Amino acid sequence: MASLIIIYDTKYGNTKLVAENIAEGINQAINITTEIVDIKDLKIEKITNFDAILIGTPNHWGGPVRGVKKLIDKLGKTDLNAKWIAVFDTYIKKDFEIALKKMEKRISEKIPNLKIITPGLSIKVEDMKGPVSEGEFLKAKEFGKKNSY
Ligand SMILES: Cc1cc2nc3c(=O)[nH]c(=O)nc-3n(C[C@H](O)[C@H](O)[C@H](O)COP(=O)(O)O)c2cc1C
Repeated sequence: MASLIIIYDTKYGNTKLVAENIAEGINQAINITTEIVDIKDLKIEKITNFDAILIGTPNHWGGPVRGVKKLIDKLGKTDLNAKWIAVFDTYIKKDFEIALKKMEKRISEKIPNLKIITPGLSIKVEDMKGPVSEGEFLKAKEFGKKNSY
């Protein structure tokens, strides 16, 4: 059975909810074990047990949060068993896909041996603290479902 670790950062909880919805979509589909971890609780050695990595960030100042950037840099220096990676972000206003594109660019520079398995998912929230906009959880579930076979 393939295994996926979903790592997220969050300030107000919305990005965590998105992570949970993606996992729900994946678990509806097939035999993948998923584990969701808050970046603040992550031990880097843990990642070596997984086949695939999904990283989520809120958009802060037009990009991923600092902890996520540091994680990507660290993964580039870690001996990984994982072959695949993908990303997602949450944003307000017009910053659709801005943070995730920067993550994908950083990943291809810092961890070139990991394959970006699917284009990232960008989820809109209504305001700084949320809530997640209407229909977006469904999009997150679908993202999980369609990338899990
Ligand atoms: C310090 C800070 C800077 C932010 N900058 C942006 C930004 O440049 N573009 C944007 O779309 N959203 C921005 N936001 C809104 C966040 O994207 C939003 O708070 C986040 O998606 C909520 O996710 P969370 O509940 O997981 O923290 C910013 C939020 C904070 C707290």
